[in-house]
Amino acid sequence: MSDVRLGVFICDCGDRIASILDVDALAREVRDLSGVAVARRLRYSCSPDGLAAIQSAIAEEGLNRVLVAGCTPRTLQPRFRAACEEAGLDGDLFELVDIREGCAWVHPPSAPPSQGGNGGGAATAKAVDLIRMGVARVALRQTREPVSTEVVPAALVIGGGLAGMTAALTLANAGLPVKLVEREATLGGMLRDVYTLYPPLPGGGRGEWRNAAEFLAEKVEAVTRHPRIEVLLESQVTGIAGTVGRYTVGVSGCGQQFDVGAIIVATGARVLQPWGQFRYDRKRVITQLEFERELTDQGRRTNRPITNVVMILCAGQRNEAIPYCSGVCCMGALTQALEVKAANPQANVTILFRDLYLPGEDIYEELLEAQRAGVEFIRYAPSSPPQVTDEAVEVHDELTGMDHHLPYDRVVLATPLVPQPDASVVAHMLAIAQDENGFFPEVRYRLRPQNYVERGIYVCGAAHYPAGRMETEFQAISTAFNALRHLQAGQVTSQAPVAVVDEKRCTGCGNCVESCPFGAISMHKREGVLDLSQIDPLLCKGCGNCVVTCPVKAISQPLDSDAQVLAQIDAALAGASPDGRPRIVVFGCEWSSHAAAELAGANKLSYPVEVRLIRVGCSARFDPIHVLWALFSGADGVFLGACPPGDCHYTNGNRYAQERINLLRGMLAESGFDPRRLRLEWITPDDPHDFVGKITDFTNLVRALGPSPARGE
Ligand code: FES
Repeated sequence: MSDVRLGVFICDCGDRIASILDVDALAREVRDLSGVAVARRLRYSCSPDGLAAIQSAIAEEGLNRVLVAGCTPRTLQPRFRAACEEAGLDGDLFELVDIREGCAWVHPPSAPPSQGGNGGGAATAKAVDLIRMGVARVALRQTREPVSTEVVPAALVIGGGLAGMTAALTLANAGLPVKLVEREATLGGMLRDVYTLYPPLPGGGRGEWRNAAEFLAEKVEAVTRHPRIEVLLESQVTGIAGTVGRYTVGVSGCGQQFDVGAIIVATGARVLQPWGQFRYDRKRVITQLEFERELTDQGRRTNRPITNVVMILCAGQRNEAIPYCSGVCCMGALTQALEVKAANPQANVTILFRDLYLPGEDIYEELLEAQRAGVEFIRYAPSSPPQVTDEAVEVHDELTGMDHHLPYDRVVLATPLVPQPDASVVAHMLAIAQDENGFFPEVRYRLRPQNYVERGIYVCGAAHYPAGRMETEFQAISTAFNALRHLQAGQVTSQAPVAVVDEKRCTGCGNCVESCPFGAISMHKREGVLDLSQIDPLLCKGCGNCVVTCPVKAISQPLDSDAQVLAQIDAALAGASPDGRPRIVVFGCEWSSHAAAELAGANKLSYPVEVRLIRVGCSARFDPIHVLWALFSGADGVFLGACPPGDCHYTNGNRYAQERINLLRGMLAESGFDPRRLRLEWITPDDPHDFVGKITDFTNLVRALGPSPARGE
């Protein structure tokens, strides 16, 4: 640390910090920390005067690191970084430590003593620890070169259904060349089997409902005639290589290979065929889509009179195996019931339902029309589903208490939309996540890390989850716009805290390849018998999972190294522990518990003053070694806050974290250490009460357990 010249600037934030914390005492304490060349108070560090003072100090004092102790990094970090860069200091060598939302505002004098109240002594002591932790972090930080690449201005769309065609048209109309790959011999996907489109044209009644065949024909013509769209039918994507900006795509069928800068996955979904349920036989007991085909011939209703139709909604869905609602089948049933009645008013049509999901104002009219036409509605309970026999459907009406015997010509099952059979192949090929039902979950742009480049891989339509026509089109257009922005940028630059491999240490075990959710790691031949792990800096998003996975610690994150984390732990535990207060080290994922803690501060919600929070990018970075280091360095409890399942910004880092922490808790228990001192919690980022409640509960438990036996005092 001898070459470190760190300037620490402690912000009064007007009186918002200075009225709660003893800022002079802070400056005195900080001045003596190793590497600190300058420690000053600033009235408003983020004001033009404050920034100018920091810039002058960089020049006059020869500072090579800067730390501001002020407000939350989420708001003003970019402003400080820019000022430092203007003064010639690499932005990575700037650190913002939150002593406002993270300390002063959650431990005001008015708070109970356990939460840092009564004069602010404990709060100021905590602020010293937070600054000490920040000093430890920034002093060990290394700079990095941003990685840039050109983007090939062309797109691939996989899937020629409604979503794929809409996305392709949107991109092509914006001037981009598009290859549209469809495995079938014709375009259209599931829409080919649909007769009527819901909802109708704006303001239209039933008479104005669109004929699906006409709609589809217009769409297919627009796609096939478009000069910038090349349609590859009876073709499948067999391989994707390359990296961000330039993916090389291999396609079977047409035997083509080409480069693109963006890929849109619009592979859709399929209707579940419920073999073994409800006597499904594809003859008399059929799915809704099969009934649609029966009612339609070359885009026209056949008017074939059918006398007895029983429709069973929620067939094979909303159960343990398939818990979701497809959201489109109730409307389909209503439409088909009306069609049957129109062809044969004497027909007996009965809809057996659990709940009716009919969104939209016009639909209520449709429901009334169906009732007027004589369609019967019977509600069944999930615990007593309809029984299909050879002649009839037996059902108990939950509302009237009556049993019904319903003879049928057709039983129509509203079965769910499920992922395509090869969804996992696509997921593997493109390194995209699948949710618990096998669909490709939506990226949550709202809280997505901003410091890495877009991969240029997008999903839209029913490949995400069951979606109707309107939603599918909307998704396809907005996804195409995202792809467009990426393609038109021309060049992308990654700012991610990427991982790097130390070739001398790598043993070629390949664990890291499996651990990377983004397909950024591959093994490459090197001299000798072992392969070497290699990380693509453009595909790496910096979750840190490979760093934790590597058994020989050959992988590191220079911006968030193990040395930095361990130094922060030491700094967190270096202060005195007055009044026998426990020491609680919290590792907080930036996108969950850290965000929630910031919100708690903004809302001035107090929590125990013992908490020392270390921010990590993702819970995948929770390394058992860090936890053990904390526990055996004097922490009485270690709390880990991660994104809830399905919400990890790096796909599934929280799943890895859970496995590791469960394993560690088991090992601690076996060695006689109370595993309750280690806790992993899912924290909702926009619910500060969630964080406050869980961290308070944990601290109270650790208080009750008393000092950790590992303290060695
Ligand atoms: Fe929060 Fe992965 S980003 S757990």
